[in-house]
Amino acid sequence: MPHRFSKLASGTMDSFIMSLVDVAARPGMISFSTGLPDNSLFDVEGLAAASAEVLREMRGDALQYDSATGYVPLRKRIAARCRKELGFDAGYEDVIMTNGSQECFDLLARMFLDPGDCMAVENPGYLGAIQSFSAYGPELLGVDVGPEGVDTGMLSEAVGSGAKLFYSIPNHQNPSGNSYSERVRSEVAGIVRGSGCLLIEDDAYGELGYSGRAGRTMKSMAPEDTVLTGSFSKTIAPGMRIGWMVVPEWMRAQAGKSLEAMSLQSGTLCQKIVDRFLEEHDYDLYLGRLRRAYSEKKDFFLDAMEDELPDCMGWNDPKGGMFVWLTSPAGSDAMRIFDAALERKLVVMPGKPFHVRGGGNTLRLNFATPSEDQIRVGMKALGDACRDVLGKRGDASRALLPPPL
Ligand SMILES: Cc1ncc(COP(=O)(O)O)c(C=O)c1O
Repeated sequence: MPHRFSKLASGTMDSFIMSLVDVAARPGMISFSTGLPDNSLFDVEGLAAASAEVLREMRGDALQYDSATGYVPLRKRIAARCRKELGFDAGYEDVIMTNGSQECFDLLARMFLDPGDCMAVENPGYLGAIQSFSAYGPELLGVDVGPEGVDTGMLSEAVGSGAKLFYSIPNHQNPSGNSYSERVRSEVAGIVRGSGCLLIEDDAYGELGYSGRAGRTMKSMAPEDTVLTGSFSKTIAPGMRIGWMVVPEWMRAQAGKSLEAMSLQSGTLCQKIVDRFLEEHDYDLYLGRLRRAYSEKKDFFLDAMEDELPDCMGWNDPKGGMFVWLTSPAGSDAMRIFDAALERKLVVMPGKPFHVRGGGNTLRLNFATPSEDQIRVGMKALGDACRDVLGKRGDASRALLPPPL
């Protein structure tokens, strides 16, 4: 008798992203595809010093089991930042530490979704989170997002038809790089307030706005109906796997219980190291350096796009985060550009897998990971790939295109 996976496990979506991580790692490949931060910006020395101090001073306690919901001093630090920078009141008891913010999505799905329940997701939206939700068998209602943020009419409809969750990335979205306007933020908060639909506000890139935060948090406008998820992956180091969620008081006990059932606790050694690192470094100064570095890199990348890509391609100018959203002419197939780029040893990320519907003429480009040399060479390859696929359309005017998402 063969072994059989559960229906829910078999229903989990494939992750195109992770398959590209392997392709991008092949020798000679240049990658604009994944969401990895720039290695050279990790503060290796600072983290090495913090690790040594934690182990020397705390000895065995540094390595022991800890509270299921995480290391209290770090939770206090995160709660203080919520009060100071994110505009809402939170105590450490509201901050639940997880193994990366990815674990929050699994935890929230586990807590709120039964197979067949509806949930709203952005279209396009972050594939990694949607994959995580998909493992619980929900019906996904795609709500379009554009340069101003989510279409609030569509969101109202989804909430009206019973969506239990809405997963949203209001700041420098993955994949499009765009942020919600203030109007959209307050409309979303108004829609979810008291509706029975829980808003998951993913703040993974919130601290990476090049001139500060992109807007107010929706958690500050609808605190009882919102869980804000955060992460040190894009700011300090993804390998440490430190994420968290800030929950309303009514959710605390269930979240602690569900987390304990899932993983007992998250990795508190890394939390202790990061807490020590933050004690010894001014986080705002540190973030300032990071934001400047990414902003300069983004400018370099956009200049290369301007030089190398045919006029028929359109793109945005993100104000933070790590991604540029590229659009080929309506009706063209960006998957073919992906294939043609791959032949030239460049990996880009097609936009279609981020969509519940549409998006066949879109691509996501990460400007954070490649070096300047790689950007120069890779962009030339991308330009050639576009011209190869689009032929004469490569000469059409960019002005004829609709604005990119
Ligand atoms: C929007 C967004 N949210 C969450 C994550 C997950 O990050 P982590 O689990 O490393 O905190 C990512 C990773 O790329 C992301 O892009």
